[in-house]
Amino acid sequence: MDPYIRVVDNELKIPGVRGRHVFLHVSDTHLCVWDGLSSPEERAHSEEREAAWMRQKEAFARGFGEPFGDAQRITTVEGFSKLLSFAREEAPEALILTGDNLEYMHPAGERFLERVLPACGVPFLCVPGNHETAALEGVWEPGVRVVESDGFRLVAVDDRTQSVSGEDLDRLEELAEDGIPMILCYHIPVAASGNREAMRKYGVYFSVDGERGEEGGRRFVRLLETCPAVKMTLCGHIHGYSDTEIVPGRRQITASQGMIGFVHRLTVTGT
Ligand SMILES: [Fe+2]
Repeated sequence: MDPYIRVVDNELKIPGVRGRHVFLHVSDTHLCVWDGLSSPEERAHSEEREAAWMRQKEAFARGFGEPFGDAQRITTVEGFSKLLSFAREEAPEALILTGDNLEYMHPAGERFLERVLPACGVPFLCVPGNHETAALEGVWEPGVRVVESDGFRLVAVDDRTQSVSGEDLDRLEELAEDGIPMILCYHIPVAASGNREAMRKYGVYFSVDGERGEEGGRRFVRLLETCPAVKMTLCGHIHGYSDTEIVPGRRQITASQGMIGFVHRLTVTGT
């Protein structure tokens, strides 16, 4: 396998699910893109951001004790192309991208994602990160989005402002009442009753805290704590791997940096 790609395997058992369902979860690819339509200023800014991440991504990896070598010293665009090649080979049920897909909203980056994701041929579900806006047409749409599988569903939530809108929370509560098992996908991890200490150590910027901040964020955390239909959550933002429990038995996985080749393969089966 390409030495850029590092796969982390996780499993989830959901009673009543038939068969075996494989998903790939990638986060924080922070794409810095320029193309033939970019102005000199746009290109210079993109190259400047790329150079900054070339240093910072290594610092994050060292901070989390994650391996980092020459294979990881490639541009965000080169890395993303390798991730998509891997996704094509694996042919998962869906590729889940949990935000900071782009380093910032910029025309060349938007053109790039709008072109390469649909062309990849793998169904994808993107949520926006705090570096992004609520919508990028054809890539991620505003509001709560649902992807149905066989006996469970993926649910994408926009929490990039460390809060969730009232409208989106109402929709989540409707989904919760359906009782169909859900895997929630969002960008900023939550600090809830079961993992507050573990998440708070990253600092206030790095979680949606059930005891602090805006009511929309606190209500989101309460829902994750109390809704039995939530079976697991996938997110990113902290740029390192963590596997904690929101409440006992309900795991929240933060992905390592996609921009250094981390792919998290989630296999869902019945019991
Ligand atoms: Fe990020």
